[in-house]
Amino acid sequence: MAVCACGCGEDELTKQLDKIIDQYRGQPGGLIQVLTKAQELIGYLPKWALTSIAKGLGVSLQDVYSVVTFYALFSLIPRGRHKISVCAGTACYVKGTKTVLKTLQEVLGIKPGQTTPDSRFTVEIVRCIGACGLAPAIIIDGKDVHGRLEPEQIPEILEQYA
Ligand code: FES
Repeated sequence: MAVCACGCGEDELTKQLDKIIDQYRGQPGGLIQVLTKAQELIGYLPKWALTSIAKGLGVSLQDVYSVVTFYALFSLIPRGRHKISVCAGTACYVKGTKTVLKTLQEVLGIKPGQTTPDSRFTVEIVRCIGACGLAPAIIIDGKDVHGRLEPEQIPEILEQYA
């Protein structure tokens, strides 16, 4: 059974999702709004939620999947509490993205696109995060930039995220 971060079971999540669907039914861009809110609620977009959304908004499940797979912000698999985005833009790549990624993989035991078994971290590769002067850089949870990274700093940085 699906459980959200606050401990709600699938029944409670379904009730809350139905309220969201009701709120956006018939509105332009309603599907994206509902998917965004559903992901905030559940943490990712499981199949049961996509089925409810399709039914509730009167669109095909195929259309829902098309939108979910088109936008990188949506995830069909559970994500960790903290998202580590590794910059693979040109400046970072030249200055060591490969080493940063290799170290993250060794420390966390996961590859890009995966989540640690304890649901603590998800690692993803992104394009330039706008901190080229700090290359190589990562950004955690979309707000904490860690730049001029040396591989040996990575375990200590990760310690800051429970
Ligand atoms: S290339 Fe990495 S921050 Fe710009």
